[in-house]
Amino acid sequence: MDTDLQQAAGLLRTARRVVVFTGAGISAESGVPTFRDDLTGLWSRFNAEHLATPEAFHADPDLVWGWYEWRRSRVRHAEPNPGHLAVTAITRRVPGAVVVTQNVDDLHERAGSPEVTHLHGSLFAPRCVGDGAHPATFPDATQNVAHDESPSGEPADGRRIPPPLCVSCGALVRPGVVWFGEELPGSALTTAAESAAASDLFLTVGTSGMVYPAAEIPRIAVRAGAAVIQVNPQPTQLDLFCTINLLGTAAHVLPAIVAAAWPPSTRG
Ligand code: OAD
Repeated sequence: MDTDLQQAAGLLRTARRVVVFTGAGISAESGVPTFRDDLTGLWSRFNAEHLATPEAFHADPDLVWGWYEWRRSRVRHAEPNPGHLAVTAITRRVPGAVVVTQNVDDLHERAGSPEVTHLHGSLFAPRCVGDGAHPATFPDATQNVAHDESPSGEPADGRRIPPPLCVSCGALVRPGVVWFGEELPGSALTTAAESAAASDLFLTVGTSGMVYPAAEIPRIAVRAGAAVIQVNPQPTQLDLFCTINLLGTAAHVLPAIVAAAWPPSTRG
């Protein structure tokens, strides 16, 4: 691990076009659940078909809105962890470094990373379901849903919150996230694909690499000849493509790479 870490630091120090690609794992140590980890992953506890599809919202908008309000509350009460801060440090050390995330939280932004590309939307950018898909705001009444949580932090069973109505057109407001069966925002996907194709170093952090088309982004970097560093405590679909595979958590490994790449005495 030490040799791999030093090699990763060397690659980072000399790279010119860096992409940091993150998934739910980078926010795990902030207390935001991942999707596919056994026991703690959201999809091991909740049925995605009933909560994360356009059909689910159509069938039961109050259930879906309530679930996303619970998730939004979890994120609002979370803080960026040393992994997010290390990503910000990379963006400051490597001009033009690009951060692409599959996460719908705002922890990269709150850690100070500029211009984060969100492939799967945001918990904080609701929009209406009408033709114009207007951006919408949250009504004050749904700001503090944490009070409705059970002691374990789960949403109260079947807790439903009616979504607000769009002030412009009267249509229902929906979470601004990408659901199963929906297309990714075109501009975000283009930015991610072009950045990966142009990269010489690609860091993939805390993602299982299973959900397409996002999972294609690291593969684009591989085909372009970039070195790929993975940070993850578990094996993933991307293991085969990695130049260096650092087995460990984001909050431990990322700060260690940054510290080895730019020892404190050399930092500006
Ligand atoms: P997953 O839940 O599929 O994978 C999380 C990854 O994070 C796993 O590989 C874990 O081993 C790893 N992990 C767990 N704790 C970690 C830690 N402390 N440090 C580093 N890694 C850790 O999450 P994603 O790959 O992000 O889509 O999932 C991709 C998409 O699937 C999500 O964006 C979401 C979901 O359905 C939408 O909502 C559209």
